Amino acid sequence: MTNERRVLVHPDKSSLAGSVAARFLTKIIDVIEERGEATVVLTGGTMGIGILAAIRDSSARDSVDWKRVNFWWGDERWVPRGDADRNETQAREALLDHIAVDEARVHPFAASDDGIELDDAAALYSAELTANAPEGSALPVFDITFLGLGPDGHIASLFPNRGGIREETLSVISVRKSPKPPPERLSLTLPVINSSLRVWLVVAGADKASALGLTLADVSVHEVPAAGVQGRKRTLFFVDNEAAAEVPENLTTPGLFWTGEDA
Ligand code: 6PG
Repeated sequence: MTNERRVLVHPDKSSLAGSVAARFLTKIIDVIEERGEATVVLTGGTMGIGILAAIRDSSARDSVDWKRVNFWWGDERWVPRGDADRNETQAREALLDHIAVDEARVHPFAASDDGIELDDAAALYSAELTANAPEGSALPVFDITFLGLGPDGHIASLFPNRGGIREETLSVISVRKSPKPPPERLSLTLPVINSSLRVWLVVAGADKASALGLTLADVSVHEVPAAGVQGRKRTLFFVDNEAAAEVPENLTTPGLFWTGEDA
């Protein structure tokens, strides 16, 4: 088993969402069978939420024992609890409100109306991660971490040429003046993302083509944060045709790069 990066191209957004949802359900069932629980990290963004909706609408949804799934978020927008812009709100509406989760296993970031400051919210999430980590470790074992990709190459709330992408000590950072609104955010750092067994980037649309091409060309992580992403077992890029326009052909030739067993 290698931890190389693989690219899987789909004809359009809807087949992309359906295929990722199906692979997710299969993998999560396997992980629960193996370990008794599974831990996933959710993302915001169009495809991140689209996949959750596709999972909700899948006929295989009820084959998962959702009470054994731990949910974390890769980043959050610093707005009030329940705000439609919160990644948590969107994830709950798309999926979590429709399945029997164990609320004790759902770990949203703090919200701007919780009565704490942004920096304290980052420290709080970091402490929550450690409180749920195996003995001797600062982090839970993340089985699958979902990420979207911004047209500028950002992942989670780690933006190009900002301090956050260089962070090596903290597990969670506060973000101010984010180029993508809202300006204040919280984000896991790159080492935490890369501690995941599997990172699944889901990327769709022509506006992502250049960022995806640069990511796979291994440019500097400071300029294109996504270029630094590497899961411990697998790093999979699930993309649609439009986003794949600038991906080198040798990375997208079925058979050469991908078998169904690889997820
Ligand atoms: C957020 C996200 C962010 C997102 C990308 C892609 O909170 O905004 O977590 O990292 O995944 O910006 O978003 P789109 O798919 O909407 O372009």
